[in-house]
Amino acid sequence: MMLKSPRKLLGNGKLYAAIDVGTTKVCTLIGLLEDDEIFRIIGVGIGRSLGMRKAVVVDLNQVGDSVRDSVREAEVSSGVRINSAFIGVTGTHISSFNTSSAISIPQDQAVSDKDLQRLMQHAWEMRMSNERQLLHAVPSNYKLDDHSEVQNPVGLHSSRLDSQVHMVTAASHAINNLIKSVRKAGVAAEDIILEPLASGEAVLRPAEKDVGVVVVDIGGGTTDIAVFRNNSVWHTAAIPVAGYQVTRDLAYGLGVSYEEAEALKIKYATMEAERKGKPVPDTVLEMEDNGSIPFREFQDILTARVEEMLELINVELATEDLHRVAPAGIVFTGGTSKLPGMANVGQRVFGLPCRVGVPRNISGLVHMLHDPAFATSVGLLYWGARNSGQELRRMNRPSPLTRMWLSVRRRTPFWKRLFGR
Ligand SMILES: Nc1ncnc2c1ncn2[C@@H]1O[C@H](COP(=O)(O)OP(=O)(O)OP(=O)(O)O)[C@@H](O)[C@H]1O
Ligand SMILES: [Mg+2]
Repeated sequence: MMLKSPRKLLGNGKLYAAIDVGTTKVCTLIGLLEDDEIFRIIGVGIGRSLGMRKAVVVDLNQVGDSVRDSVREAEVSSGVRINSAFIGVTGTHISSFNTSSAISIPQDQAVSDKDLQRLMQHAWEMRMSNERQLLHAVPSNYKLDDHSEVQNPVGLHSSRLDSQVHMVTAASHAINNLIKSVRKAGVAAEDIILEPLASGEAVLRPAEKDVGVVVVDIGGGTTDIAVFRNNSVWHTAAIPVAGYQVTRDLAYGLGVSYEEAEALKIKYATMEAERKGKPVPDTVLEMEDNGSIPFREFQDILTARVEEMLELINVELATEDLHRVAPAGIVFTGGTSKLPGMANVGQRVFGLPCRVGVPRNISGLVHMLHDPAFATSVGLLYWGARNSGQELRRMNRPSPLTRMWLSVRRRTPFWKRLFGR
């Protein structure tokens, strides 16, 4: 099919593409950043994800096919072709920690952008084993001499600049498999972004990120957590329990297939006592052998599993003094946060204000996207556009595939790389 030239669509905007390879769905978005604030979504491709387990690639060909279908759909709906895209990653192979970095500033000079780069260079040069790659080094809490909580040090005078840095590392093999499977669909990874950082970018209000807030993206295979504070990143984590495990437990417990259990979950599941908008049946399923599954049995398994999931999140966050670090509370997102009543149960478990977040600041082809399940997909566009290029990036011993990609990257301008095929 002949595809329209992207330039006709552009105006003054910049085009970006993102692929969210989730455990249950793949979503490709092509977005035009019009006035540096709002993405106009011009291409959407959503399909079932095959070959992923707990957010990691377990079958290269299946994931490649799923990504290809989703990319083609987004390309056809937008009329532009994608050469590269921002890709999300998560899973239990991710680890993160806070470290600090400091540099001295020459006398009589104000802090410059170059100094900030120098400061971050320290973090990126940290030695890591060959099995791990550094994904993000996000600075926060700048300190100039003895003055802490400096928002933006550029232009200020000081003899020493300190910063806390949130470092995120990932297993190299998991990253390489992801890059390879996306490559199978003819797309290069423009940047690999930790998914909860993307989700936060999509669903949080600026004031929440400033005072401190937790994003909990409960998807299909993993629950991803990011704590934002002072407009930066404080803590990130991934837990291998989410909607898939709820459905699987319903299937085991009720003796039905996974597909039947998923259908029952979507139809009947709610954590609200009053079950607004949900049926109130005696039985959830009549069996072929004249048996039936009582509603109570279904609800008991559901409640136990969801409460246990929230407890695991609580344990993960136990080291943080959430009332101090995240007074804005918890924003749930991801497909499983669509379970009615999640915010109320969360409030009970965490003792903090809770809400469910959907992607903000999007226009265009959005009828599907105002949905918590697409927080990561939309957020990948935002995080990529806001941070890629500003963030120093150095892969720890790049794989041959990454090296090849980086050499193409150096030779070809970003614009051509993305859409110039
Ligand atoms: N109305 C609903 N009630 C309860 N669960 C729901 C509802 N709608 C979707 N889900 C669940 O949301 C999950 C999918 O969420 P999502 O699309 O965010 O996952 P994903 O991005 O594919 O996976 P991951 O991010 O974990 O790799 C499925 O387990 C699905 O059962
Ligand atoms: Mg997801």
